[in-house]
Amino acid sequence: MSSDSLSLTDNLFEGSIPQSTHNTISILTVLDISENNLSRSLPTNMGTLFPRLVYFNLSQNILQGTIPSSMGEIERLYILDLSSNNFLGEMLNQLTKNCTQLVYLNISSNSLQGDILPVDANLTRLQYLFASHNNFTGKIPSGLLNSPDLMILDMQKNSLSDTIPSWLFSLSKLVSILLGHNFIPGHIPIQLCQLSNLHTLDLSNNSFSGNIPSCLNNISSWKKTDQIQIFDFVLNNRLFHPRTSTSFTTKSVTYIYDGLPFSLMTGIDLSTNQLGGDIPFQIGDLGELHSLNFSNNLLTGYLLQSFQYLKSLESLDLSHNKLVGRIPYELTQLDSLGAFSVAYNNLSGNIPFEKHLTTFPEESFEGNPYLCGPPLEKNCSMDIPPQPHRDEGESSRVLDNPVFFYSFVAMSYALGF
Ligand SMILES: *[C@@H]1O[C@H](CO)[C@@H](O)[C@H](O)[C@H]1NC(C)=O
Ligand SMILES: *[C@@H]1O[C@H](CO)[C@@H](O)[C@H](O)[C@H]1NC(C)=O
Ligand SMILES: *[C@@H]1O[C@H](CO)[C@@H](O)[C@H](O)[C@H]1NC(C)=O
Ligand SMILES: *[C@@H]1O[C@H](CO)[C@@H](O)[C@H](O)[C@H]1NC(C)=O
Ligand SMILES: *[C@@H]1O[C@H](CO)[C@@H](O)[C@H](O)[C@H]1NC(C)=O
Ligand SMILES: *[C@@H]1O[C@H](CO)[C@@H](O)[C@H](O)[C@H]1NC(C)=O
Repeated sequence: MSSDSLSLTDNLFEGSIPQSTHNTISILTVLDISENNLSRSLPTNMGTLFPRLVYFNLSQNILQGTIPSSMGEIERLYILDLSSNNFLGEMLNQLTKNCTQLVYLNISSNSLQGDILPVDANLTRLQYLFASHNNFTGKIPSGLLNSPDLMILDMQKNSLSDTIPSWLFSLSKLVSILLGHNFIPGHIPIQLCQLSNLHTLDLSNNSFSGNIPSCLNNISSWKKTDQIQIFDFVLNNRLFHPRTSTSFTTKSVTYIYDGLPFSLMTGIDLSTNQLGGDIPFQIGDLGELHSLNFSNNLLTGYLLQSFQYLKSLESLDLSHNKLVGRIPYELTQLDSLGAFSVAYNNLSGNIPFEKHLTTFPEESFEGNPYLCGPPLEKNCSMDIPPQPHRDEGESSRVLDNPVFFYSFVAMSYALGF
C-alpha cells in the first residue's frame, strides 16, 4: 500500500475518531476505516483534516450524530461509503453541492431524514446512489436531474410519500430503480418505458394504483441479454470494485445481488400495491425477465397464454389478485420456473398438472374455489362452472374443457345444427 492510502478495515478500533487539536492537514487520498467499532460523532472538521480524499469508507461502524458540513471541503471525493452506521439528521448541502466528483454515494442503513438530496444538489457524475433503510420522506429529489449518469437509485425502505416525478425517466442510464417499501401513491408513469437499460424495477409495497403500463415491452434489457457494465477503478495501485449490492426478492427470498449476478439480474416487482385492470399481454415479450411479482394487487382478467414466452422466468408470483378463467396449458412449458404461485385468485377448471408445473405444490394453486384436480384435493366434477378460455391476440377459442365442450354440443343439438 502506498503512503497516501490507509486501510484499517475490519479491526477492533473502538471509541471516536479524535478531534485533531493542531489541525494537521492529511495528504491521504484513500481512507478505509470500515468495519470497526467506532462510535460517537465524526469530528466537525473531518473534511478540513482530509481534504484530498478520493475514497472514504466509514461503513459498518456505530457512528452517530450528523454528517459534518466540512465534508463539502473534500472536493475530489469520488467514493463515499457511510452505510450501516447511526447517522442522524439531514443530508447536507455542502456535501451534495461541493463534492461534484462523487460517483458512488452510499448512505444506506442509517437514521437520516428529510429529503434524500437538497434541490441544489450538483452531483454531476453520480452513478450509484444507495439510500435505503433510512427515514427519508417527501419525494424523489429533483436535484437528481443534475446526475444524468445515474445507474442505481436505491431508496427502498424509507417513508417517501409523493408520486414518482416523470422527469426521473429522462435519466436514461438507470438500470435499477428500487423504491419498494415506501408510501408512494399514483400511477406508474408510462415514461418508465423510455428506460431501455432498466434491469430491475422494485415498486413493491407502496400505494400505486391504476393499470400496469402496456409499454413495458419497450424496455430492451428485458427482451435480450444485456449485461450491465460495472465500473471499477485503480487508485494507488489498488483495484476498487464498488459494491453494487441491491436487494431484490425472488422465489420468496430477498437476495443481495452484487457483481456478476447483479449485472445479469432482471426483474419486476410490483407486488403489494392497488394496481388494477388486466395484465398487459405485452408482458409475454419479456423473454429475458428472470423474476416477475404482481402479487397482492387487484388485477383482473385472464391468465395470459403469452406467459409461455417468458423462457428465462425463474419466479412468477400472481397470487392474491382477482384473476379469472383457466390456467393456460402453455404454462407447463416454463421450464426455468423455480417459484410459481397463482394462489388466491378466482381461477377455475382443471389445473394443467403436467410437465414442469408438476414441480409445484398445492399452495401454488390454493384459494381458487373453482380450480380442481391435482395437486389440489378437489376432484374435477361437473359442478364446476365452465370457463371460456380467452387467448389474447388470436381469435380461436380452445374447446378443451370437456364440460364446456359437452354443453356446446348439447346446445347445438337443441338448436338443430
Ligand atoms: C465549497 O467549495 C468552495 C470552493 O470551490 C470552497 O470555497 C467552500 O469552502 C466549500 N464549501 C464548503 C462548505 O466546504
Ligand atoms: C455543478 O458542478 C459543475 C462541475 O461539476 C459546475 O460546472 C457547475 O457550475 C455546478 N452548478 C452549480 C449550480 O453549482
Ligand atoms: C420506447 O423506447 C424509446 C427509446 O428506446 C423511446 O424513445 C420511446 O419514447 C419509448 N416509447 C414509449 C412508449 O415509452
Ligand atoms: C466499504 O467497506 C465495506 C466493509 O469493509 C465493504 O464491504 C464495501 O465494499 C466498501 N465500500 C466500497 C464502496 O468500497
Ligand atoms: C412477491 O411479493 C410478496 C410481497 O410483496 C412476497 O411476500 C413474496 O414472497 C414475493 N414472491 C416471490 C415468489 O418472491
Ligand atoms: C368467481 O368465478 C365464478 C365462475 O368461475 C363466478 O361465478 C364468481 O362470481 C366469481 N367470483 C368472484 C368473487 O369474482
